[in-house]
Amino acid sequence: MILPMYIFGQPVLRKVAEDIDFETYPNLKELIDNMFETLRRSEGVGLAAPQIGLPIRLFIIDLDAISEDEPQYKGYFHTFINPEILEESKETTSMSEGCLSIPGINESVKRPAKVLVNYLDENGQEQERWLEGFEARVFQHEYDHLDGKLFVDHLSPFRKQLIKSKLLAMSKGKFSAHYKCKPNH
Ligand code: NI
Repeated sequence: MILPMYIFGQPVLRKVAEDIDFETYPNLKELIDNMFETLRRSEGVGLAAPQIGLPIRLFIIDLDAISEDEPQYKGYFHTFINPEILEESKETTSMSEGCLSIPGINESVKRPAKVLVNYLDENGQEQERWLEGFEARVFQHEYDHLDGKLFVDHLSPFRKQLIKSKLLAMSKGKFSAHYKCKPNH
């Protein structure tokens, strides 16, 4: 089932999300399946639960979507439940980011190049590993969503000023997206 995307201006995108209990959270597998279907349809690489209106600490990443250009990501479909960032590299990289909740805006964002993370996978198994490259980038973007942060928060005051009116319009429902969105008003 395709779930409607919550767009900039929706309060849930600014909430600090809560951990979930893997064993007892209702219909978790179905929720994750629906999130993957929604992500695939919207042609994104990552989707966090707050973006579909749920303030819980869960996100998914689909790098299979870019495997035509990046063959090492063939078959990459990962679920991250109650994730944590344990360590960050001092080395940083800048990369252009966009967000399904902020359609039509792409900006360069500087983040740590590598992160040591832990999380529960889709089977409830605890994982701990260093991420790097594009995987580290997407993980950090999605992780921000769980803390109510958006990639535009990382921009310089100057870049923020440049997109301010676009964001304001978006929060009032003036935007276009090629996927199903929850109306802002
Ligand atoms: Ni996003």
